[in-house]
Amino acid sequence: MWWTTTPREQTLFEVGEYRVRRVSEEDAPIIRKLGERCLEHIELHYGSPPDPSQMIRELLSDLPPNKALGDKFGMGVFDGAGRLVGAIDVIRDYPEPREWYLGLLVLDPHHRNHGLGAKLMAALTQWLRQREAVYLRLAVSEHNEGGQRFWARMGFEPVKQVIAEFGNKQSVFHVMRRALEVR
Ligand SMILES: CC(C)(COP(=O)(O)OP(=O)(O)OC[C@H]1O[C@@H](n2cnc3c(N)ncnc32)[C@H](O)[C@@H]1OP(=O)(O)O)[C@@H](O)C(=O)NCCC(=O)NCCS
Repeated sequence: MWWTTTPREQTLFEVGEYRVRRVSEEDAPIIRKLGERCLEHIELHYGSPPDPSQMIRELLSDLPPNKALGDKFGMGVFDGAGRLVGAIDVIRDYPEPREWYLGLLVLDPHHRNHGLGAKLMAALTQWLRQREAVYLRLAVSEHNEGGQRFWARMGFEPVKQVIAEFGNKQSVFHVMRRALEVR
């Protein structure tokens, strides 16, 4: 008898009971459900009405200019019971070689404010160092005050401000960056 099995996506890193692995098209239904639980975050960036499928595009297909899907790492954060409770997206070598770009970090509202975000960032930083990343860059919206506090606490420093339009909403974004050297 022949067995055809799809290999389970490999765990990239773990934080306590939480497991982080790459997500794929097969995960689209659970990513959309996460989007439904994070509508306030989608609305903050894209305006109203928020589209929960935006989370699928952010994790599986959205790319900055001149980058390919091979440089995109859309990841899901799964709790001990295997439920998707968060999403991370990083782009390799953008905008410069050895500088990675964090396009998304979002947690299910029930999993926020317990220090999980900080622990995930520590584990992601370690994972990036293993890939010889030197800097991590991101952009946080002017409307996201909690996010701005979080990134400052994580050691990110302001680089510049840019105006960008997503969906039907235009916002100022604070571009921030941190070095990934061992501290
Ligand atoms: C940003 C985000 C990923 C941070 O993850 P998190 O797990 O909530 O982060 P932390 O728990 O480490 O810190 C968040 C807050 O919880 C507080 N906190 C941390 N550990 C805590 C604990 N054990 N008990 C109580 N509060 C705690 C922190 O002081 C912080 O408070 P502040 O908002 O007043 O600054 C998460 O809040 C989120 O998904 N937000 C919406 C999406 C978003 O804004 N993403 C960033 C976009 S650029």
